[in-house]
Amino acid sequence: MERADLDFANLPFAYVKTDANIRYRFRDGRWDDGELTPDETVSLHMASTCLHYGQEIFEGLKVFERPDGRIQTFRLDENAKRFQHSAGKLLMEPVPVDLFREAVHRVVRANRRFVPPYGSGASLYVRPFLLGAGAEVGVKPSGEYLFLTFVTPVGPYYKAGFQAVKLVVEEEIDRAAPGGVGDVKCGGNYAAGLRATIGAKERGYAEVLYLDAREKRYIDESGSSNFYAIKGDTYVTPTSPSILHSITNKSVRRLARDMGLAVEERPVAVDELGTFDEAGCLGTAAVITPVESITYRGREYVYAEDGQAGPVTARLYERLTAIQWGEAEDPYGWTEIVPEP
Ligand code: PLP
Ligand code: COI
Repeated sequence: MERADLDFANLPFAYVKTDANIRYRFRDGRWDDGELTPDETVSLHMASTCLHYGQEIFEGLKVFERPDGRIQTFRLDENAKRFQHSAGKLLMEPVPVDLFREAVHRVVRANRRFVPPYGSGASLYVRPFLLGAGAEVGVKPSGEYLFLTFVTPVGPYYKAGFQAVKLVVEEEIDRAAPGGVGDVKCGGNYAAGLRATIGAKERGYAEVLYLDAREKRYIDESGSSNFYAIKGDTYVTPTSPSILHSITNKSVRRLARDMGLAVEERPVAVDELGTFDEAGCLGTAAVITPVESITYRGREYVYAEDGQAGPVTARLYERLTAIQWGEAEDPYGWTEIVPEP
């Protein structure tokens, strides 16, 4: 295999044209066999429910080239289940887990030369998405759906080299901001937060940190990742009805417990900002990103001097990435080899 001509070690988190994407159609009560295509465009009826009534959901997962050259997925079944949860919330046709897995395997194999080499620090980001594709004018769910998956080789979402980032609490940016992005991974939820995220970036922060929608007293999550803090030997992460159930966070909670930390999942008051020893962002794109500081009501709470992660965050990052990259054995069954054709 000849690798694509890309500077894999310096990739941004951005779209790169690859050889193929895969698309399946649900019509007359059944999914078709799916088709790989180099076509980057999608032809849709102008009255499709995805365009008018927001019947659009997506997922994000990564695949990695291991030291032995094989390719592995990370917790693909969790993404498939969350995709079904999102579909259920928006009355869309759920994609069977086996079809989701088949789509990822087929599209990854078709783009083998775009999988970043082991050691480059980059990975292949996989973006499955589902569109309501039937023509409707009344407010009702579509009877027809398109399930597409594309891939793109990516580098770090925030900063390169495990460098810490600055966050800002939403009220500094946009008083009309929603709470967290929500427990449905749909475009509409992200659209509602775009103004706050872009406003934060324009002011030099990596992301906005949302507070709960009702009381504006508790930390929810950032615009593109979950949040945790370290207090002594305890890993603390917010519970909230309006945050995405992060698969990275679920994994890191398990690793934290197995490393002897206590894990608290509870509402985390913004008043606790001054009590954290370390803080971090969690996500497929974010991996674990250390938080350098959080700005709230004109004060900057600092958790990482000179952009360097604290010791607990560094240990969690090493453990997580060693499993994702296939460097360490995976005792949890989180990784699966993508079968050769
Ligand atoms: N929260 C938001 C708003 C996200 O966009 C993401 C990314 O998917 C996450 C949290 C992290 O979820 P996961 O770890 O499953 O990627
Ligand atoms: C992911 O981490 O997969 C996400 O969906 C975050 C996105 C904002 C890039």
